[in-house]
Amino acid sequence: MNEYFAIEKDERGIVWLTIDKADSQANVLTESLLEAFDHALVQVAQMHPKALVIRSGKASGFIAGADVKAFANVPGVASAEQHILRVHEILHRLESMAFPTVAAIHGFCLGGGLELSLACDYRVCANDEATRLGFPEVKLGIFPGYGGSVRSTRLLGDLKALELMLGGRTVSGRAAKKMGLVGMAVPLRQLRSAAIDLATRQPRVSRAGCFKRLPAMAPLRPLVVHFMTRELDKRIRRDHYPAPYELLDHWRNTAGDEPAMYASEASRVARMINATEAQNLIRVFMLQDRLKAEGNKADFDARQVHVIGGGVMGGDIAAWCALRGMRVTLQDRAPEYLTRAVKRAHQLFARKLKDPYARQAAVDRLMPDHRGDGVRTADVVIEAIFEDIDAKRHLYAEVEPRMKPDAVLATNTSSIPLAVLGEHLERPDRLVGLHFFNPVAKMPLIEVVHDQRTDPAMIKRATAFARHIDKLPLKVRSTPGFLVNRVLMPYLLEAVELIEEGIPAPVIDRAAMGFGMPMGPIELADTVGLDICLSVAGKMAEALHNPVPQQLGRLVNDGRLGRKSDHGFYAWKDGKPIKELGKEPVAMSDDDISDRLILRLVNESVACLREGVVEDEDLLDAGVIFGTGFAPFRGGPMHYVHSRGTEAVQKRLHELEDRFGEHFHADDGWGAIA
Ligand code: NAI
Repeated sequence: MNEYFAIEKDERGIVWLTIDKADSQANVLTESLLEAFDHALVQVAQMHPKALVIRSGKASGFIAGADVKAFANVPGVASAEQHILRVHEILHRLESMAFPTVAAIHGFCLGGGLELSLACDYRVCANDEATRLGFPEVKLGIFPGYGGSVRSTRLLGDLKALELMLGGRTVSGRAAKKMGLVGMAVPLRQLRSAAIDLATRQPRVSRAGCFKRLPAMAPLRPLVVHFMTRELDKRIRRDHYPAPYELLDHWRNTAGDEPAMYASEASRVARMINATEAQNLIRVFMLQDRLKAEGNKADFDARQVHVIGGGVMGGDIAAWCALRGMRVTLQDRAPEYLTRAVKRAHQLFARKLKDPYARQAAVDRLMPDHRGDGVRTADVVIEAIFEDIDAKRHLYAEVEPRMKPDAVLATNTSSIPLAVLGEHLERPDRLVGLHFFNPVAKMPLIEVVHDQRTDPAMIKRATAFARHIDKLPLKVRSTPGFLVNRVLMPYLLEAVELIEEGIPAPVIDRAAMGFGMPMGPIELADTVGLDICLSVAGKMAEALHNPVPQQLGRLVNDGRLGRKSDHGFYAWKDGKPIKELGKEPVAMSDDDISDRLILRLVNESVACLREGVVEDEDLLDAGVIFGTGFAPFRGGPMHYVHSRGTEAVQKRLHELEDRFGEHFHADDGWGAIA
């Protein structure tokens, strides 16, 4: 056993190479691990084994991927290319061993980890839900560079392999077996015997048949690329996310010629990883890690959650917690209010859990409890009833005396300060905000709201709880709108202002999406509900020095609430807004529109930093990206400011203030932004 591996030969003559990187929860392919792996292969060859099985000693899985942290500091294209070529060499050594090689996979097998397993003759994996295989590289602005584009097309055929690499999604063990990525998928307890079976039986090594390699024929390639590019264009823009397009280009130029493919992989990935888009996406990956590290599961052994209010949010929070393994009791005013929540929960389980036993177990973990018996035993109580101060206070008065002494009392309020809600509590120090975002199943962030009275132990528990349910906790101070709604609101209000100035809604949305937002602000307002926007805008008007635009009130009075009433700023049909661009010229450029929207968000971000709503710029960027979907390839609002230049941004704000009014007045916090 060294820092990375244990190597042992069993009585059958099979060598077991167990990857177990010291002081790390997961195996990550750092440069030093890869070099040690190369040495280990030499050592194994000298043992003259019947076969080699590579497995992981980590509970979390096989190999989580390449060392993304090292990617953040690549010292240039040439050295990145050198590194990739060296890894090619190491995996070629593995591939050309004189004896059969097997990868026995459980848990995460991603990116470089999957590429390493593809260099083995056989792959077997566990068939549970925790086993995930895939190529997430495009999410980091690159494509598989450790031979993955070569070996996956060889194994799966070109179309399936391209689809896997272009989508960046992961597949379960069962799905991996179905698509041919692994030869066997078995229950975890049989993984070892299945590996022995492959190592001794040595079936024919799997390769895609001629038919599946047909698309790689030179005359067909342009057609395939044309078709796949069209599909990509529906989802993303080449100037924002170039990696998938680059992969298609790489494949078109080299498919069918393996040496050329390896060389092109190395040169292209090395170039891409040094480009701004990839560096920003890698930054987002690291910000996600930072948020994960904000909560430590070991700090709080939470098992039971009691949710009060089975509406839009409470119902979905309860369902999510049950999906993630918590025992959940769900309370509302009467049993009939819970029916819809439970039905929605079952739909979520059906979507997320393919294994019928796992699905039934989730159903069993969620218990409707209109009397609120669960309060007594819950580790966390989450209140998600109407946004009404008296109703919430009244509820707490009833709930608090029945809670376990060390349980967390949490509110999902989106706008009421903790100090107000906690006023009559016996122990106001245990009230925290757990502000989930809508839709709960899709939005990764939870704002963990606290003020100077909150017990630090409760904040610790709340962040740990967020990690238990696989969400990203962001600690925010209890100020109006917290972080996410606070920065989003000026952006939305500016969009309404633009409408009032006569700019058509589709033009405004187009400008925001041109910047890289996942959805335009007008469509977003319609989706959230104009009544909700109006109410939040009203509550924040004073703090933002921004009166609520009249148009918002008018629409709500007319019953035009957005998507849910089929009419808001847009008319909606079948859940989609009807966007018609008129023929008449628009009096403002897309650049001006997008600056008006984005710089208001940016200016408010600076105000949040000045007020200490979050601790630092990185956390702010993380919150805004994971809470609003802010263009990830730009690395967050503050990172965007630095790339554009703080002085240039402030100059632009002054210019916008002159033209459009004082709501563009640069915040006092700019002085502290280096
Ligand atoms: P909702 O109106 O859909 O659901 C509220 C539920 O609470 C209803 O089922 C109601 O019967 C129940 N309820 C009311 N008083 C109760 C009581 N005394 N005891 C038990 N149940 C009671 O509301 P929604 O949208 O789910 O909002 C809930 C909370 O979450 C609010 O504080 C809101 O500000 C916050 N929030 C809402 C978001 C959204 O997008 N809707 C996003 C983030 C937070």
